[in-house]
Amino acid sequence: MAVELKPMTRRDLAVVRPWFEDEDVQRFLGGPEWPARMLTLAETVAGTIFRGATQTASYRWIALDGAHPVGYIDCGITDRWTVCDDDGTGAPVVVSAIDVPAASVALTVDPSRRGAGIGRSMVRALLAAPEVRSVELFGAGVDPDNVASLRCFGAVGFVLQTSEPDWEGMLYLIRERERRFRRGNHAHTCP
Ligand SMILES: CC(C)(COP(=O)(O)OP(=O)(O)OC[C@H]1O[C@@H](n2cnc3c(N)ncnc32)[C@H](O)[C@@H]1OP(=O)(O)O)[C@@H](O)C(=O)NCCC(=O)NCCS
Repeated sequence: MAVELKPMTRRDLAVVRPWFEDEDVQRFLGGPEWPARMLTLAETVAGTIFRGATQTASYRWIALDGAHPVGYIDCGITDRWTVCDDDGTGAPVVVSAIDVPAASVALTVDPSRRGAGIGRSMVRALLAAPEVRSVELFGAGVDPDNVASLRCFGAVGFVLQTSEPDWEGMLYLIRERERRFRRGNHAHTCP
C-alpha cells in the first residue's frame, strides 16, 4: 500500500466531511467541521504562538489510492517542540522544549478502508513531503485509548515521549526525521 498526498482544497470537503461523522473520529480528533476549520486556520496561523512555540505554517492533504480519496492528514509546523504542564490555574506552561523545526500530525482514514495499511502509508508519505523538508521532529498527540492511532504511529517509527499521559490526558509520540540511535560517541542513522 502506497498512497499519494495531494493538497486539500475546499472542493474536497464534500468527500472528507462524512469521514468526520464517524464516532472514533469525533472522539479522538473532531467533528465534521474540523477539515473546514483547518483550511480557515491555515490562512492566519503563521506567526502566532501556541504553547510556547511559534507556528510557521500548516498543511492539509487528501491521501489518494490511485484516483480514490482514502484519508485526510494535516500538520502544523512550529519553530520548536514543546512539552507543557498545568501552571496550577489550568493554563499551560512550557516545561521543556526541543529546539528544532517540528510538525504536529493528525490524520483519519475513510472508516470503510481502515486496517489495510493506509494510515501507515499516509504518515510515511507525509514524512517525505517537500512541504515539510525543513522539519526535523514529527509528533502526534494521541488519546491513550486510541490503540489504532498508537499502533499506526508506532509502526512508522514514532516512540512515546513520556510513559504517562500529560496534564490533558494525552500521550505524545515523536519521531526524528532521521532516527539517530546514539551508542557511545557515535550517531547511527537508520532508514
Ligand atoms: C488511527 C487510524 C488513522 C489508523 O489508520 P489505519 O489505516 O486503520 O491503520 P493501518 O492499517 O495503517 O494500521 C497501522 C497499525 O495500527 C494497527 N491497527 C489499526 N487499526 C487498529 C485497531 N482498530 N485496533 C488495534 N490496532 C489497529 C494495525 O494493526 C497496524 O499495526 P501493525 O503495523 O503493528 O500491525 C484510523 O484508525 C482512524 O482513522 N481512526 C480514527 C481517527 C483517529 O483516531 N485519528 C488519530 C488521531 S491522533
